[in-house]
Amino acid sequence: MDPFARPITYLRVSVTDRCDFRCVYCMAEHMQFLPKADLLTLEELDRLCTAFVGLGVHKLRITGGEPLVRRGIMGFLRQVSRHLGDGLDELTLTTNGSQLARHAAELADIGVRRVNVSLDTLDADRFAAITRWGRLPQVLEGIRAANAAGLRVKINTVALKGVNDAELFDLVRWCGDEGHDLTFIEVMPMGDLGEEDRLDQYWPLSDLRARLAERFTLIDLAERTGGPARYVRLSETGQKIGFITPLTHNFCESCNRVRVTCTGELFMCLGQEDNADLRAPLRASPDDTVLRQTIRDAIARKPKGHDFDYSRQGIVGQMTRHMSHTGG
Ligand code: GTP
Ligand code: 5AD
Ligand code: SF4
Repeated sequence: MDPFARPITYLRVSVTDRCDFRCVYCMAEHMQFLPKADLLTLEELDRLCTAFVGLGVHKLRITGGEPLVRRGIMGFLRQVSRHLGDGLDELTLTTNGSQLARHAAELADIGVRRVNVSLDTLDADRFAAITRWGRLPQVLEGIRAANAAGLRVKINTVALKGVNDAELFDLVRWCGDEGHDLTFIEVMPMGDLGEEDRLDQYWPLSDLRARLAERFTLIDLAERTGGPARYVRLSETGQKIGFITPLTHNFCESCNRVRVTCTGELFMCLGQEDNADLRAPLRASPDDTVLRQTIRDAIARKPKGHDFDYSRQGIVGQMTRHMSHTGG
């Protein structure tokens, strides 16, 4: 429980800062990645997840960078899956989809039930422009493999004005046809990349929603998945569409999550700098007493919310930390 009486039951763990893509809103093209020795080992990551489950975390989302590029990741997931049904309700991941074709069947076997795949466009050239290094057919193949393995797929689309706004209805139709849930995300001012671009590309989801409402009847849904998204159903197609609106509608009052980076920094908020070092207690002793106390102390100072804001003088609350560092 944090100081604002929010139960913290959702942990997002980044297992690597590396990625095989270089999405423009997430990474610089030439990133300086962390030295291997700084990363938590898979054994340390397992101890850490186990400690959080012991303290009341029910949902674990593995992120990156791209989690599926971390060597040994499948073995780690299998290890952690022993907590499913024994404290842990859900083990899932957020991925760019590039390696899904290879891993989908094993993920399903491990007990993963759904994955979130980032996909901002269905146009191959635009996809290459956004992700710099990504190739659309590879991701589409990964998504098909996930479905074939019985995994549910939720598509995450960052709404980018002047980039993918003309594709709104194509994306909605495609997700409807393929049976994927779809969530739009407002682009957040993270990283040391040109601030102007971010502001130019900011497409408030209130506008996107209004455009959807011109063609569909939107029914607000009360349900929450434990994430920040608010959902509507399109009554004409039955599809569920999510909106993650850190800028236009702050959802921090119902925040239920914390994040751990691949070096063991515990961030209490995506949009704040305060963090606690969990690597030191992990490495200092095989006993988890200090680790658990460090986690409790950190949760006890979780801030009320982020300070992102584009509305006053340009960008306020810009984080120099890259999104890939905290795993989105
Ligand atoms: P489900 O609801 O379980 O599908 O998960 P989720 O939406 O929490 O996870 P996902 O990884 O798909 O998150 C999508 C994106 O939403 C993240 O990558 C972030 O960009 C954004 N997001 C998630 N949690 C937060 C949060 O606490 N604060 C802010 N500002 N953005 C968040
Ligand atoms: N703003 C909003 N979403 C972002 N993501 C990465 N960087 C940003 C940003 N600056 C999203 C990705 C992916 C998830 C992990 O985070 O598109 O879906
Ligand atoms: Fe990689 Fe995801 Fe960041 Fe794109 S948004 S560079 S796929 S971690």
